[in-house]
Amino acid sequence: MKAPLELLEEKFKHAARRAFPDLGDIAVEITQSTQEKFGHYQCNSAMKLAKELKANPRAIAKELIKHIDSSGEPFIANLEIAGPGFINITLEKSYLEKFLHLIITDEHLGIDKPAHKQRVIVEFSSPNIAKEMHVGHLRSTIIGDCLARLFEFLGHDTLRINHIGDWGTAFGMLIAYMKEYTPAVLTGEEETDLPHLMQWYRESKKKFDADPDFKKRGQLQVVSLQSGEPEAMKAWQVICDISRKAYQEIYDLLDIKLTEKGESFYQPFLKPLVDDLENRGVLEISDGAKCLFVEGFKGRDGNTLPLMIQKSDGGFPYDATDMAAIRYRIEEEKVDRIIYVVDAGQGLHFQMVFKGAEIAGYLDRNKITVEHVPFGLVLGQDGKKFRTRSGETERLIDLLNTAIEKADEILKERDPSLSEKERKERAHILGISAIKYADLSCHRTGDYTFSYERMLRFEGNTAAFLLYAYVRVAGIKRKIKIDIESIKNEPITLSHPSEVSLALHLVRFDEALEQVTKDLLPNRLTDYLYNLAEKFHAFYRDCQVEGTPEQNSRLLLCEAVTRTMKQGLHILGIETLEKM
Ligand code: ARG
Repeated sequence: MKAPLELLEEKFKHAARRAFPDLGDIAVEITQSTQEKFGHYQCNSAMKLAKELKANPRAIAKELIKHIDSSGEPFIANLEIAGPGFINITLEKSYLEKFLHLIITDEHLGIDKPAHKQRVIVEFSSPNIAKEMHVGHLRSTIIGDCLARLFEFLGHDTLRINHIGDWGTAFGMLIAYMKEYTPAVLTGEEETDLPHLMQWYRESKKKFDADPDFKKRGQLQVVSLQSGEPEAMKAWQVICDISRKAYQEIYDLLDIKLTEKGESFYQPFLKPLVDDLENRGVLEISDGAKCLFVEGFKGRDGNTLPLMIQKSDGGFPYDATDMAAIRYRIEEEKVDRIIYVVDAGQGLHFQMVFKGAEIAGYLDRNKITVEHVPFGLVLGQDGKKFRTRSGETERLIDLLNTAIEKADEILKERDPSLSEKERKERAHILGISAIKYADLSCHRTGDYTFSYERMLRFEGNTAAFLLYAYVRVAGIKRKIKIDIESIKNEPITLSHPSEVSLALHLVRFDEALEQVTKDLLPNRLTDYLYNLAEKFHAFYRDCQVEGTPEQNSRLLLCEAVTRTMKQGLHILGIETLEKM
């Protein structure tokens, strides 16, 4: 079923066209009311129209109302002109009741499949091989997964891409180092892990800078690797596999699926990219390197900044892979929208890649949407970039496991009678949810302070608060011992204002999701769910459920709450519990 906002927009647009045929197509502005006592929605278009027509806004509002089509299913209960010419809109209860039934019976909660199905790439996580994922990658992973889940739920064709940094000159020196110091690892005879790899990486870097002979050997390895020499390729594979294993551990804990298509994937497309750009005449040689100068982007010295497509030594830098990737995604993967979830520090890089792709003729921004979705830093209690006590960058796996352990302690205290097994299961969900929710509920572009204590609280805008609200609603249903299935088709009657307010919020789920597809701010969804829990609590305070004549109707309202909450949390990447 259409979300009320969409339906209202249609109706008002239609009314405007009929009332003022000379004005052609008019964009109407409808918003959710800020105060429910005035109505559910409001139309703000009369003022603007009045300016255009040099007329009185209240008279215009009156004309609009006169032309609203009221045939068909009951939808609008009341229209009222207020202030300078706002139209306050109140929806019919019967419309809300009908929508609630859909939420309960339709597996897609009454939300229509998209009129225009899109192919969307959400590129997220993207750590760098031979290095640990850091908190920045964690933010990307959590936000990207949420956006991908959202597009999947709404019915878009969604590709979850992990653009890992698995190629480049740094691997040459690492392979050279490992060949000399840990040859058995490279042949696969000996196993190791990512922390060791990182240590060797650091040591190889030191040696590279200090020892010219080693430097030469490292550079030779790069050449071997780039020409696909089998021994070098095997070594590179081994290094990638060790890193991948560590990343997978984190993805498993977070229950996140990704398709790896890293920098190396675009290797075969780099040479053709250079040829194509040369044919198009957009490359210039600068200091021996092949560059695409991007108009509109200037450095501090006032000169136009370039994307470097090929270095003077023949190597292909970061800019080149991203140009090859955007071209591949548009031409081969035929996407409608590409979303890059990468920290705010890379903003300039992406704006230049997008513009560069336009200059090259790969990207037509009227047809394809490309967006860099930046996010802020994670801060420690000291307000500085998040670190462990020893000053090292925190290992993500430790951070996740600590959250689970702390959740376990809290659960132990709350209910000592829980069996070990049950507690562990719940602690896992609670700990991981707390981390995800704390991240998603902050405004994406801002920095936020990491605090186990705060994220695991049961009050306020937290995962625990929502999970617990869900458990409470589930508990009510359980206690009354009526099979929802058997009363599903009974009437829902909204009588108390708290019921109407809750119902109105429920039918706005689609509007909240649509908003997130536009501005890609997950906190809009966390806010929506937090408000849903609050509205549910108000309803439960004001309306008795058990043993009243309204019992079954109210139970169905509870059912709509649990279904919406479960789905909403699922989009955030949070699984619900039946008991807590
Ligand atoms: N590997 C990069 C990093 O850790 C992130 C990759 C971002 N995506 C891209 N298409 N450049 O900083």
